[in-house]
Amino acid sequence: MKSIALSLCALGASAKVITDDSIFYGQSPPVYPSPNITGTGDWAESYTKAQALVAQLTLEEKSNLTFGASTTDNGCAGWIQAIPRLGFPGLCLVDAGNGVRTTDLVNGYAAGLSVGASWNRELTTQRGHYMAGEFRAKGANVALGPGEYPQSDTRLYIYLHFTIVVGPLGRIARGGRNWEGFSHDPYLSGLLAADTIKGHHQRGIITSLKHFILNEQETNRNPFANTTPQVEAVSSNVDDKTMHELYLWPFQDALKAGSANIMCSYQRINNSYGCANSKTLNGLLKTELGFQGFVVTDWRAQHSGVASALAGLDMTMPDSGYWGKNLTTAIQNGTIPESRLDDMATRILAAWYLLGQDEGFPKPGVGMPYAITEPHTRVDARDPAARPILFQGAVEGHVLVKNNRALPLRDPQVISVFGYSAPGYKQSVVGDGTYSAWKLGAQSTNPEQQVASKVYNSTVFIETIAINGTIIMGGGSGATTPGYVSSPFDALNQRAMKDNTDLFWDFVDPAPQVPASDACLVFINAWSSEGYDRPAVYDDYSDNLVLSVAEQCNNTIVVIHNPGVRLVDNFSDHPNITAIVYAHTPGQDSGAATVALLYGDENFSGKLPYTVPKNVSDYGPLLGPDLPEGDYLNYPQSDFSEGIFIDYRGFEARNITPRYEFGYGLSYTTFEYDSLSVGKTKKAEDADIYPSGPIEQGGQIDLWDVLANVEFTIKNTGKITGKEAAQLYIDTPSGARQLRGFEKLSLKPDETDSVKLPLTRRDLSEWDVAAQRWKLVKGSIGVYVGASFKDVRLQGTLDI
Ligand SMILES: *[C@@H]1O[C@H](CO)[C@@H](O)[C@H](O)[C@H]1NC(C)=O
Ligand SMILES: *[C@@H]1O[C@H](CO)[C@@H](O)[C@H](O)[C@H]1NC(C)=O
Ligand SMILES: *[C@@H]1O[C@H](CO)[C@@H](O)[C@H](O)[C@H]1NC(C)=O
Ligand SMILES: *[C@@H]1O[C@H](CO)[C@@H](O)[C@H](O)[C@H]1NC(C)=O
Ligand SMILES: *[C@@H]1O[C@H](CO)[C@@H](O)[C@H](O)[C@H]1NC(C)=O
Ligand SMILES: *[C@@H]1O[C@H](CO)[C@@H](O)[C@H](O)[C@H]1NC(C)=O
Ligand SMILES: *[C@@H]1O[C@H](CO)[C@@H](O)[C@H](O)[C@H]1NC(C)=O
Ligand SMILES: *[C@@H]1O[C@H](CO)[C@@H](O)[C@H](O)[C@H]1NC(C)=O
Ligand SMILES: *[C@@H]1O[C@H](CO)[C@@H](O)[C@H](O)[C@H]1NC(C)=O
Ligand SMILES: *[C@@H]1O[C@H](CO)[C@@H](O)[C@H](O)[C@H]1NC(C)=O
Ligand SMILES: *[C@@H]1O[C@H](CO)[C@@H](O)[C@H](O)[C@H]1NC(C)=O
Ligand SMILES: *[C@@H]1O[C@H](CO)[C@@H](O)[C@H](O)[C@H]1NC(C)=O
Repeated sequence: MKSIALSLCALGASAKVITDDSIFYGQSPPVYPSPNITGTGDWAESYTKAQALVAQLTLEEKSNLTFGASTTDNGCAGWIQAIPRLGFPGLCLVDAGNGVRTTDLVNGYAAGLSVGASWNRELTTQRGHYMAGEFRAKGANVALGPGEYPQSDTRLYIYLHFTIVVGPLGRIARGGRNWEGFSHDPYLSGLLAADTIKGHHQRGIITSLKHFILNEQETNRNPFANTTPQVEAVSSNVDDKTMHELYLWPFQDALKAGSANIMCSYQRINNSYGCANSKTLNGLLKTELGFQGFVVTDWRAQHSGVASALAGLDMTMPDSGYWGKNLTTAIQNGTIPESRLDDMATRILAAWYLLGQDEGFPKPGVGMPYAITEPHTRVDARDPAARPILFQGAVEGHVLVKNNRALPLRDPQVISVFGYSAPGYKQSVVGDGTYSAWKLGAQSTNPEQQVASKVYNSTVFIETIAINGTIIMGGGSGATTPGYVSSPFDALNQRAMKDNTDLFWDFVDPAPQVPASDACLVFINAWSSEGYDRPAVYDDYSDNLVLSVAEQCNNTIVVIHNPGVRLVDNFSDHPNITAIVYAHTPGQDSGAATVALLYGDENFSGKLPYTVPKNVSDYGPLLGPDLPEGDYLNYPQSDFSEGIFIDYRGFEARNITPRYEFGYGLSYTTFEYDSLSVGKTKKAEDADIYPSGPIEQGGQIDLWDVLANVEFTIKNTGKITGKEAAQLYIDTPSGARQLRGFEKLSLKPDETDSVKLPLTRRDLSEWDVAAQRWKLVKGSIGVYVGASFKDVRLQGTLDI
């Protein structure tokens, strides 16, 4: 603690010396030196190739691999320059998590939260596969050999996709980037990340895993230099056990699945910046989890040169000035060992080799224009085979949470449609003339999207809504510009044309007049973007609109486009509100998917990847971000003192009954669970309490040993075909019942199928802080299988 006080003074803080230990977790422990890549597991061959190439590089060439090249005029978010004499074509790094950002002729897939709501692993792999195909397609299919690199061409390959968000994990309800992540549960998040990586690897694209780590709020994510001393970024302070059991968990799954890149985060961790934190980078990532790939900064997240190099950073984006000439000088004068730079270069090139990008990767991406008006060769990256995946992704991300026999619609003759989130946007492209994120519902300039959360000490928060049209995703670097957007109203019109339905609509009046109708549909949304946290998790404007329709229509169906948790208690019990749908962030097929579901052409199968409480007060301090306060105005602190008790773990521990629990979602059919059996495997017989296996990427390999299997059957007992996401929870040694298995099945009426879910050593362990290992806790463990966290259908015990 003393050292903190000293460093604050050294940085020029106020004369007041901070002595109160209770509000600080303290300092991140130093972990040096930075571990070298060792070529374990699948990395052996790519490591050898990378070492051989690095051995031929000059100091400056190696250094040039580690920072962003200056030109931005090639459609890449970040660019590593080529080494033409050795046939290395450079690297092009491109956003976004739901498709190729900043270009034309691409698709906009369902965003993270919708993927989480699908609970569908196969669909997630397919999504990753087709998304990666679009990254690959933005170039012509010409294989280049060494020396064949066209030096004059400044446009480069899209090699690396900023695709997988497992942090934020949704610690705070109002988190601005919660929609980019899959779920507020680390187990669900981890497996869907692994599946996305699998899909990308099928197409030879490097995945970037982000944001490492504890990037749980947008407020104060970066330092502000407009005061003296400057306001540093918020510090996320977390204990070691929570780190392992909650926040590191999904990263571990994704590393196990082979992600060759990871992005360090903007904010601080135990008061040390995410891209210069030796404990998280050298310690957790490169030692404990045996990471073989390279660490890249989030954009402009580097705040030191020598320190970040020694702490384990491998690439800075864009060119911060901290490295380049300054890095080579520091090496020449002995401040940084050259072996650290060799390791950076080896890790970067090994990732390139691992994905086979040295063997016939497409020619430079001529399909990536910079400005909208720039004439360019058109490269249509959209594979027709991706269409069913896009549509199904939109469908399965919808979650039906209330249905009083309103849905599916049965031959309605008159339908009235309300709400600003039903029609398409009035204006398709705004902004600075580039293919940035702002097209069709991902706009940054909407006056209704004013930011309250940037204002310190502000207590009045009014939720922002995208009042001028439907949204299909949130905003910021995670947004894309798909070729088309199917709005709910477009899709309803098409359906009306087919069925000869009579449609009425009003998207403007906050208290519209409602014609006598068979059904009244109200479409509302919430806006969310990178860069700031949502001001609230419901808004009175939308709630009043819903209530006003419901007062006049006894069959009111509410559809919400929600990029995060959205509370509905102001209207959910209203007798005239007969159905409520969370549509989440469906991507370009949004409206078509909603209408197919409303009419029963498709059947709801999504389940909530987070909990919906009844009241904002249920969140306690986890509603919104931590703000700079007290002695820490310049050094904002966010203490994760709730431990692993976020979302359903927290509500359960505090005995709060939610409105809709984690894993909840209705179907048009019914399922019966039966025949539970819980069996130990041979490996469990004489299992030591600690793992003893060697470390490969992902951690000690025997953490993935299957020690038990949980089997059961599911029968579709209704009249229509449907899918069920079955869930397995166990009472973990950490004192919380947690998700430890799931599978989605499609069943015809009367069809029965069996499910077998493995429990690994890690699933059954807790993090032992003293031993610094996962510890298998022997004893009797409660096992719960069901349709949601609360809807337990089968119960058993596992004696381990
Ligand atoms: C942060 O500090 C806590 C409390 O001292 C410690 O348990 C944890 O390991 C630290 N984590 C990091 C990443 O520094
Ligand atoms: C990394 O490898 C280099 C070259 O073999 C060696 O000099 C250096 O000590 C190694 N660093 C670590 C941390 O093992
Ligand atoms: C390294 O990069 C700089 C620009 O950042 C460039 O001027 C220089 O030519 C590059 N060196 C080599 C050897 O490619
Ligand atoms: C790089 O080194 C130069 C010369 O020593 C110095 O002026 C500059 O501030 C350094 N850049 C950074 C970002 O530290
Ligand atoms: C070595 O170079 C680095 C980067 O320019 C500089 O910060 C450091 O002060 C230098 N050290 C010595 C001993 O010259
Ligand atoms: C939204 O609509 C309002 C009212 O028509 C208009 O004033 C405003 O400019 C629109 N905003 C955007 C971003 O289109
Ligand atoms: C926030 O409130 C505290 C206590 O009321 C006050 O001391 C501080 O100056 C305020 N901060 C800002 C940025 O207004
Ligand atoms: C609901 O309203 C419709 C038309 O407005 C009417 O025909 C119907 O009888 C009402 N149903 C009930 C249960 O009140
Ligand atoms: C919605 O609920 C909140 C919190 O209970 C309340 O403050 C607000 O006035 C309600 N709004 C409406 C439209 O009922
Ligand atoms: C429900 O809707 C009917 C019109 O269909 C209306 O007469 C009635 O007052 C509404 N009920 C409530 C509680 O608003
Ligand atoms: C959904 O259920 C309907 C029956 O209402 C059935 O015809 C259809 O095949 C089902 N759709 C899917 C995709 O299972
Ligand atoms: C929500 O919580 C607030 C503050 O605790 C309370 O005043 C209000 O009555 C609650 N609303 C509901 C609907 O429970």
